[in-house]
Amino acid sequence: MSGKENAQRMEKIVSLCKRRGFIFQSSEIYGGLNGVWDYGPLGVELKNNLKQYWWQVMVRERDDVVGLDGAILTHPAVLKASGHVDTFTDPMVDCRTCKARLRADQLAEKNGARQCPNCGGKDLTEARPFNLMFQTQMGASADPASIAYLRPETAQSIFVQFKNVLDVSRKKLPFGIAQIGKAFRNEINPRNFTFRSREFEQMELEYFCRPEQGMDLLAYWLKERIRFYEEIGISRKRLHVLDVPEKERAFYSKGTFDIEYEFPFGRQELEGVAYRTDYDLQQHIKASGKPLDYFDEETKERFVPHVVEPSAGVDRTVLALICDAYDEDSAPDEKGKMETRIVIRFHPRMAPIKCAIFPLLRNKEALVAKAREVQALLRPHMNVFYDEGGAIGRRYRRQDEIGTPFGVTIDFETLGEKGEGLRDTVTLRDRDSMKQERVAIKDLPQLIPSKIR
Ligand code: GAP
Repeated sequence: MSGKENAQRMEKIVSLCKRRGFIFQSSEIYGGLNGVWDYGPLGVELKNNLKQYWWQVMVRERDDVVGLDGAILTHPAVLKASGHVDTFTDPMVDCRTCKARLRADQLAEKNGARQCPNCGGKDLTEARPFNLMFQTQMGASADPASIAYLRPETAQSIFVQFKNVLDVSRKKLPFGIAQIGKAFRNEINPRNFTFRSREFEQMELEYFCRPEQGMDLLAYWLKERIRFYEEIGISRKRLHVLDVPEKERAFYSKGTFDIEYEFPFGRQELEGVAYRTDYDLQQHIKASGKPLDYFDEETKERFVPHVVEPSAGVDRTVLALICDAYDEDSAPDEKGKMETRIVIRFHPRMAPIKCAIFPLLRNKEALVAKAREVQALLRPHMNVFYDEGGAIGRRYRRQDEIGTPFGVTIDFETLGEKGEGLRDTVTLRDRDSMKQERVAIKDLPQLIPSKIR
């Protein structure tokens, strides 16, 4: 796809997200809050499906991982020890001509001179470090002792609570602590829709191990995480693994892989899988003076565990899911004429709505009553949507556009008007093939879930 085609594809995706209620600009009626997004009725379902599936495979299906839900407000000592207070910075440059504040690594260059990408001006300040953390004040007094930070990653509360979790869960190495939650970074240039936001969510696992297990577990977690993306329907051919070279890794990391996705705006990081050694726990031991070590009952050794961290972004994965699934093909309209169909081919596991329920006609009481019965039957099993408005083809199209994998139509056959054999059967339509099969209503609660898992 050419650059222009990719840009057009991205524009269509952004507009669909707003039009159908996946993602809205935050505070839009006041002009918008830059780098902050609200998820609409479909967006929140998609996001919840993603987070629930991550929690299912990373925590509930494993004996060696437990969960944590840490606070967002963070003690400054935690982030001082982790290095965020002193080094979580981007080098920044100000343009004296248009007053734009720019990331030093995003400056244009012309004839060897640095140039402002906004106005083309060359009168730029030297680069200065700019801390990306949001700082706030706790309590009524405004002295330095009342400073707290909105966490820039979920990982630190896991390190700080390592001993408490170890004591209560009685886990043996290797074992992990997982967390899903909000993180905040005052990104200089939020861009590419939700890709680089100032408020976002992470899904992080800190997997603690013996030092000699670190490199093997790094390879293990990379494989597991790639499998996860495939299981949620992201095509393998658009996923790439970057083995981050030593000079670009954090100094304490013995190995880091970035899992990247080919977004329409380029290949970009979805998740980092990093072997962080014992750096974080050691930093907190030094700063707090508290023991955060592990006693191995078998070998009688006491040591500080090492950690492998798969750290994924919820918002970036949601965006990748939408970009990957967005498609256009053709389908017949009401008069049988072929027209372009927008279809989001979400994996049924991720689809915000699993099944739409349509009475053929809204003004036939018996059809509507039967459709409501089917809705009540399916509701405990999945997220369903009832729609009686407009021609049936239009209703299918509305669901295709938001990725609903199945549609059930209640027609006159269902009512037994075309023979007793078809009474209490419906058509079940498949979004991708557009094929329809006749199935018994009583089979739907088992049949549809069997196609979702
Ligand atoms: N604990 C390690 C850590 O936070 P990171 O690479 O800075 O590592 C992990 O962040 C993931 O969080 C990224 O791969 C990305 O998916 C997500 N992420 C980071 N900054 C983000 C931002 N500004 N907007 C959206 N997602 C972001």
